[in-house]
Amino acid sequence: MSEIKNIAVLTSGGDAPGMNAAIRAVVRAGIYYDLTVTGVLRGYEGLICGDFIPMDRKSVANIIQRGGTILKTARSDNFRTVEGRQKAYDHLISNGIDALVVIGGDGTFTGANLFTKEHNFPVIGLPGTIDNDLAGTDFTIGYDTAINTVVNAIDKIRDTAESHDRLFIVEVMGRDSGLIALRSGIGVGAEAIMIPEANMGVEGLAKRLEYGRKDKASKIIIVAEGDEIGGAFNVGEVLKDRFPNYDIRVSVLGHIQRGGKPSCMDRVLASRFGVSAVEGLLNGHSGEMVGQVNREILFTPFDHAIKHIDAEEVTPAWLKLVEILSL
Ligand code: F6P
Repeated sequence: MSEIKNIAVLTSGGDAPGMNAAIRAVVRAGIYYDLTVTGVLRGYEGLICGDFIPMDRKSVANIIQRGGTILKTARSDNFRTVEGRQKAYDHLISNGIDALVVIGGDGTFTGANLFTKEHNFPVIGLPGTIDNDLAGTDFTIGYDTAINTVVNAIDKIRDTAESHDRLFIVEVMGRDSGLIALRSGIGVGAEAIMIPEANMGVEGLAKRLEYGRKDKASKIIIVAEGDEIGGAFNVGEVLKDRFPNYDIRVSVLGHIQRGGKPSCMDRVLASRFGVSAVEGLLNGHSGEMVGQVNREILFTPFDHAIKHIDAEEVTPAWLKLVEILSL
């Protein structure tokens, strides 16, 4: 029998669509297993300040379809310090909490990893980030919605690009990862996709454009924000000099990629992860992230999950696919 009777849940770092579905699943699983569930507001900042609220089945009603996070989120500098983590621990203990569920990305798990080791306090993580850059899961909560948001936006850009015979350079998020750019680029039929995993550089892009069909009315180039080329506006400047005949426009999609209703895939993934996290804690898991690999739920130590290098890879096969499709 587990000694865990009271758990807390928080969301941290950049929000991602599906975080609410994850919170709902944690709360409902907690209630199902006769646990008391506490919500922590504003991520680790709320943990440090003791900003706690009781959660019951009603507090998570009607949120599965909502973007953002009802618990709010923050990026906490204080939690990076030993003193900050000590305050967080003191608040958990004084509130009688036995275990913690954190929903977030690599920054969240870096903090959780230090915290669980320093205080020997049970912590389980749920991967919640649009970037899909964590090892130990095929997909993170929010990624599917984000790439669909990007595809919807670029389909609209394609309409106007086609009407004006223009070349659009569209910048998408992903921090150091090009996975949002890769999948959404394939989804919109982009003429070129610039990602940090395969920096093609100005020369590579110029070659791609020269090699591509000249009779195509519109062209879409997707630039991942982490590509070494330094952003879509830079690409625009370079191309203006190199290809004076192109009518070039730049569009940075920005934070719309983080908002909106979660897709069904994200709702189901988040729901599955939330229940598995609670069951994992009750079965003695700690210091791990719950993930889904080949449809199976598994637990990966935080140390490993935050190593981007082992997250989904942009393989040569992906790059070849992009090249073939951009003819
Ligand atoms: O990690 C999610 C993410 O949206 C990244 O893709 C992006 O680089 C970053 O967060 C933006 O963070 P902020 O909202 O703090 O500017």
